[in-house]
Amino acid sequence: MNPTKIESTILVIFGISGDLSRKKLIPALFNLFKQNYLPNEFKIIGLSRQNINLDEFFNKLNFENEDPLMINNFKKKLSFVNFDPQTIEDYKTLKTMLVDQLNDFNCDRLNLLLYLSIPPNIYSNVVRNLGQAELNENNEQFDVKLLVEKPFGYDLKSAEKLINDTKEYFTEDQVFRIDHYLAKDTAQNILTFRRYNPLFQTAWNNQHIKDIKIIALEQIGIEGRAKFYESIGALRDLIQSHLLQLMALITLTLPKDLANKESIHLARHDILSNLKPFINTDEVARNVLRGQYETYRQEVDNVDSMVETYASVTVEIENSIWKGVPITLTTGKGMDEKRTEIIINFTANHEQALNKLTFRIQPNEGIGVYLTVKKPGLDRTTETVSMDFSYKNSFKELSYNTSYEKVIIDVLNKDNTLFATADEIIDTWTILQPVIDYWSTNQNDLIIYPNGSGELN
Ligand code: BG6
Repeated sequence: MNPTKIESTILVIFGISGDLSRKKLIPALFNLFKQNYLPNEFKIIGLSRQNINLDEFFNKLNFENEDPLMINNFKKKLSFVNFDPQTIEDYKTLKTMLVDQLNDFNCDRLNLLLYLSIPPNIYSNVVRNLGQAELNENNEQFDVKLLVEKPFGYDLKSAEKLINDTKEYFTEDQVFRIDHYLAKDTAQNILTFRRYNPLFQTAWNNQHIKDIKIIALEQIGIEGRAKFYESIGALRDLIQSHLLQLMALITLTLPKDLANKESIHLARHDILSNLKPFINTDEVARNVLRGQYETYRQEVDNVDSMVETYASVTVEIENSIWKGVPITLTTGKGMDEKRTEIIINFTANHEQALNKLTFRIQPNEGIGVYLTVKKPGLDRTTETVSMDFSYKNSFKELSYNTSYEKVIIDVLNKDNTLFATADEIIDTWTILQPVIDYWSTNQNDLIIYPNGSGELN
């Protein structure tokens, strides 16, 4: 990639004081800056209701081991603006600043990236205000992209509303709905692996695959985000987005050209829109599990909280390739390990046979193949052994980019392949809506588990 090809760019971050900016976004921008991946003419404008002091902001960033000179140069790219997202005047002031910047850069047109890292309940207002301040349309001065953080909606109805509200002011190809799991190197590798290893291609269907498990466990709890998490829970936080997207990558029908974004979007949508709907409460109950770690209620200061910190949902794709293959998506916080993994169990033709393929998304990134072999000796005892590919051993000199670096680079290059489309958002809420309804009325199925538990069953 040639960074100089990217036009003069301004990244406006709505909600710069939030957790995400500090933990993921600013560190990723700094890494790109260090590696000279950002355009020369690049500025970040951080918007927040609070007054932010540049030095105090940087002191909280864990940059202790970074070169101070580099940090200082990076700081020059960043400015903070006191901003109330509900006040239209503030958008007009922002627009004036952007036009001034156009003159400072001495360019005719700016690449304007509007990054919404804000709660979903103010999202529609912000989009409308952007529209009213004419900061939405591509014109002679601005080439505008809207970057949106998840959660995109709260349920099917609210997601539909957000999509429609956005449509009033932005075209679909201006909207980049971030799912940082899609941008992980190990997740991107799924399609590459499937395309370039014919060994597995003919077995990639319900004739040979018994079941699929997609698991994302975390040791951390909600880390002080009580208000946010009380309105979200594990199903909305990870299953609706990251895990269903990983499932789509594993099961989609490979398009001819992996670099063609429309065909990748269509292939993902084709899977997500063909999930078998849950037809009644009994069916939902049979296919879901939820739990809450023991200290959660205390942490959120709500003794009655029914919000799940652990969720598991089994789905099935209703097409001729996958019909009959249960796919279980599981996520949990407060567990005994951090592990995101996809396990594909091949059909055993013998009860002792175990044949599986695992994609280790993180940590210990890699791919494992488990085979059943005859144990050396005079009888016919079998044993399971493994063959392993590990990123660390095979690519010793290379570090892979964190997902947010990839997110930013793709937006700069106007490539939305690894972002969720409006159709996919609707598909994922559609399949999960009966689960949301069931959990909102049922009170008896929440498993309270000790912090540091393994997978529940
Ligand atoms: C985010 C969720 O999308 O993903 C967080 O909101 C979760 O709750 C995080 O901790 C996990 O991301 P990663 O990349 O650390 O696995």
